[in-house]
Amino acid sequence: MDPDTRPVWITGARGLIGHHLARLASEPFPGRRIVPITRAEVELTDARALEARFEADPPGLVFHCAAMSRSPACQENPPLARAVNVGVTRHLAHLCANATLVFFSTDLVFDGTRGSYREDDPPRPLMVYGETKADAEAVVLQNPRHLVIRTSINAGRSPSGDRGFDEEMLNAWRTGKTLRLFADEFRTPIAAAETARAVLELARFGATGVVHVAGGQRLSRWEIGSLLAARYPDLHPKLERTSLRDFQGGPRPADVTLDCRKAESILGRPMPRFSDWVASNHSG
Ligand SMILES: NC(=O)c1ccc[n+]([C@@H]2O[C@H](COP(=O)([O-])OP(=O)(O)OC[C@H]3O[C@@H](n4cnc5c(N)ncnc54)[C@H](OP(=O)(O)O)[C@@H]3O)[C@@H](O)[C@H]2O)c1
Repeated sequence: MDPDTRPVWITGARGLIGHHLARLASEPFPGRRIVPITRAEVELTDARALEARFEADPPGLVFHCAAMSRSPACQENPPLARAVNVGVTRHLAHLCANATLVFFSTDLVFDGTRGSYREDDPPRPLMVYGETKADAEAVVLQNPRHLVIRTSINAGRSPSGDRGFDEEMLNAWRTGKTLRLFADEFRTPIAAAETARAVLELARFGATGVVHVAGGQRLSRWEIGSLLAARYPDLHPKLERTSLRDFQGGPRPADVTLDCRKAESILGRPMPRFSDWVASNHSG
């Protein structure tokens, strides 16, 4: 079969992960035109606009990063979250019948009762965001050539300066806020640039199905905040250690850490440790 020379699309290209994908994609896909799609170019919930763009410039590979990616916003407006996260993904999956779709999902498809989740563990989301992602995964996986990436919280520079969770923490400290951080809520954080590198390689290798791409270290919110705070003494970071037991809001999964051995075996390397990334990328 001839190699695919069709363009590579990246939706959500002004977001955190999409921006890093767009920056790094030409190396693993030399000779392929990289097409970053932003909301200013195509409002993806506008089905006709999406279809017209797709027909005018059909891609062979689509990294679908555009989403309502913040859980509280999804919780506040479930119909919009469903339209963006499930509706748009369903439409793209339909358009990509003969192209490869790489869909970004989340560790929040799990209920957090156990941790170290494998790809074949059954999703059981506790919140609207995770529900929309689990439903979209099921749609995408109907086509065996597609790839679903589940990732954890991502850090790093974003075009808007407020999408990386580290950017959010530093922005809060710069304005004198105190961060209340759970010592008993665990994630596997990763830098968005590392996520992008791994996902680009997985797509180049032709990986399909579900693959977990997250950091190689289980850390609590409190540990993550403490790692960052130690690098910025001049900001006089204020953080308070709290427990999920004292949380008054809705349900929060306690441990949604991801087991990434499948990605590691395809990539032939361990997933990066978040503390190493902080040490080499953050200095106040
Ligand atoms: N970052 C994380 O920690 C994390 C963790 C797990 C999973 N994920 C998933 O990974 C993917 C990428 O995340 P991210 O952090 O890069 O997200 P992000 O920074 O929020 O970027 C998402 C981008 O999608 C755009 N977008 C949203 N709705 C759109 C629409 N209807 N039409 C066109 N563009 C639209 C947004 O534009 P506006 O800025 O104009 O809204 C934004 O530029 C998402 O699917 C997310 O759910 C992310």
